[in-house]
Amino acid sequence: MRIDVLSIFPEYLAPLDLSLIGKSRERGLLDVRAHNLRDWTTDRHNSVDDTPYGGGAGMVMKPEPWAQGLDAVADDIAGNHQGDHERPILIVPGPSGQRFTQKMAAELAQAPNLVFACGRYEGIDERVFDFAAQRYDVRIVSLGDYVLNGGEVAVLAMVEAIVRLVPGVIGNQESLVEESHEDGLLEYPVYTKPAVWRDRGVPEILLTGNHAAIHTWRHEQRLERTAARRPDLWSATQSLRPQRIESGDVQTAQPADAGELLTLTVACYVAEGRDHDSFGLPALNETTDSVREALAEWTTWVLRSQGRMIGSVRARLSGHDWEIGRLIVAPDLQGQGIGRWLLEFAESHAPEQVRSVVLFTGANSKRNLTMYRKAGYRVTGASEHLGVPTKHLAKRISR
Ligand SMILES: C[S@@+](CC[C@H](N)C(=O)[O-])C[C@H]1O[C@@H](n2cnc3c(N)ncnc32)[C@H](O)[C@@H]1O
Repeated sequence: MRIDVLSIFPEYLAPLDLSLIGKSRERGLLDVRAHNLRDWTTDRHNSVDDTPYGGGAGMVMKPEPWAQGLDAVADDIAGNHQGDHERPILIVPGPSGQRFTQKMAAELAQAPNLVFACGRYEGIDERVFDFAAQRYDVRIVSLGDYVLNGGEVAVLAMVEAIVRLVPGVIGNQESLVEESHEDGLLEYPVYTKPAVWRDRGVPEILLTGNHAAIHTWRHEQRLERTAARRPDLWSATQSLRPQRIESGDVQTAQPADAGELLTLTVACYVAEGRDHDSFGLPALNETTDSVREALAEWTTWVLRSQGRMIGSVRARLSGHDWEIGRLIVAPDLQGQGIGRWLLEFAESHAPEQVRSVVLFTGANSKRNLTMYRKAGYRVTGASEHLGVPTKHLAKRISR
């Protein structure tokens, strides 16, 4: 991953030489370049700010040094990639941006190029964002609901959160799985030796060696801690968390569900279409009638929460295999384990004689592939379906 940071205080970014980030740079996993915005000024004072139009307090960052700097970095990135390459992502830290989250960190960790533009004063002339959008995928991102003096501290925090998710940066990837915010919950309390310290013992259960009981205890601690400390996280996700889903929320789809199922399918497959640069995918070209007809060929289940259809999956017998398809979760509820829950639900309905479950997904659907791998599926082949590269996966069922 290459990271470029533009700032009037590039020395502020010196901590990126330290610790795991510094080591990852040494090992070639990470290429971090801090640029001085003043290198792209033309006047003899190297000025980067001016008074605001319309009056008011403070100064505003002038657009031209930003335009020159962003063009120079974009040219350099493009020069390093021959042929096709993804548009670099430009992250502009700002208190009026979208909130930075663990989910965003995980998404950004997949990008080959990230560019950060650190504002100062009252911020950057607004026209720069529109200009930058010609070459970058521009995101305004806030660290939290407070105001810092400049974007550098925000960049340090974001880079650390993103980079530790890049494969290879943290030796033990498993340590990332149960962390706070990974699935909308805070982490459980942790303890180390000695077992009794200053008259305080560690919870007995942790000394029993009973891993199933420890797992359950830790999960309960996560729920309790999240409810007590972050009720906002709790109420945002709890009503729909997989542990709250009951089999009764899943129904076999009926012809009357076809319209709603079509809408949910299209909403979910748009991302897949974008990932594959093709909107010819069958899921994006259904009609209410074709969805209704498919209900006769497949057993299709729909998941509802408070009446709203939020997910679906379908399955059918294909030779000796149980074929699963169209696993979808409403875009605003993805990343909470609902897809995994639906997948297991569909698997659990495989007829007795079946020994393996098969499915396919777009070769560029990184999220899907990760979820299927975690669920025990292995890639068994690849093909092209209507011009879209596709991976075939299978999992053996033990009875
Ligand atoms: C003093 S702030 C500008 C605040 C701006 N006038 C406003 O009210 O939105 C200067 C710079 O600090 C950075 N900054 C301040 N608060 C931030 C936050 N919560 N998250 C990310 N960056 C922030 C941004 O780069 C911003 O351009």
